[in-house]
Amino acid sequence: MTATAAKTATKTRVMSGMRPTGRLHLGHLVGALTNWAELSRTADAFFEIADLHAYTTQYQQPHEIRAAREEMVRDWLAAGVDPDTSTIYLQSGIPEISELHVLLSMVTPVSWLERTPTYKEQIEALGADVATYGFLGYPLLQLCDIAIFRGEKVPVGRDQVAHLELAREIVRRFNRFYGETLVEPHPLLTEFPAVPGTDGRKMSKSYGNAIEIADDEDTTAKAVRSMFTDPQKLRRNDPGRPEICPVYALHHIANEPRTPWIAENCRTGALGCVQCKGELAEKLNAYLRPIRERRASFDDATIRRIIAEGTDKARHIAAATLRDVKRAMHLAQ
Ligand code: TRP
Repeated sequence: MTATAAKTATKTRVMSGMRPTGRLHLGHLVGALTNWAELSRTADAFFEIADLHAYTTQYQQPHEIRAAREEMVRDWLAAGVDPDTSTIYLQSGIPEISELHVLLSMVTPVSWLERTPTYKEQIEALGADVATYGFLGYPLLQLCDIAIFRGEKVPVGRDQVAHLELAREIVRRFNRFYGETLVEPHPLLTEFPAVPGTDGRKMSKSYGNAIEIADDEDTTAKAVRSMFTDPQKLRRNDPGRPEICPVYALHHIANEPRTPWIAENCRTGALGCVQCKGELAEKLNAYLRPIRERRASFDDATIRRIIAEGTDKARHIAAATLRDVKRAMHLAQ
């Protein structure tokens, strides 16, 4: 074993992924990517472009998914994910994941999938068209993503905790039937400040309230100027309530040292919203500037090469796990 391989072997295997559904925003940056960037150096990290997962709901938009995948990786790299010390790969380029999905489907009760909270919520939100067989299997496919690399820790948001609970139940069931083969994955939750969008709701591309990593400085400044603030603060000198103001919440992200002063002067009415937003736009752009510069520094060929090399590396590991699983199940290898 080489020195680097030995070192890798002692690091925790971390696995996470995102669906390529569009450009990433400040919410992704603060909620996930800053953490991924750190993990890309400190852990044995695998980061997946979950294109198959995108198809579970957006199967009518293959071109959008295709176009989003390189752009998404560009955002990852911009945020500081290091492709030299982590593995970035394309889910559909690892057919072993799909094969594992069939194998694990044999031990996965349909009722377990149906009771997943995201399943019912999404059907209510998106309509019955979304309720395909593939969509029902979404959390099982997610388990396959993790299990094929024997991922131990999975950095995700709270909304994904139920998926990981289900994943562990399926792993335990598999191991009970066929012997200890798969690893139980655990969530790696990081606390981060809530990131509201420009309208005060959760930042989300679909709400049209996002500040995107790829935006230019003018776009960001305009978005900040259009932000909702405390509706009771109508005039500059009216006292405001920073605790309910999305502008204030974003100051916490990009302008933390100034937040006590801003909170106090907003409350007394000394600080008007126009000035407060002006300062935020400046600080937000300063925070995003090195990220945007890094984003622009990668050309298409480099991004494609990073994904191709990562997928190749990941595939070898996936093949070894799949062999173990098929051996345990007494299937052809
Ligand atoms: N379901 C995750 C999300 O919507 C994306 C995802 C796909 C994922 N495969 C994964 C996350 C594996 C962690 C591990 O955010």
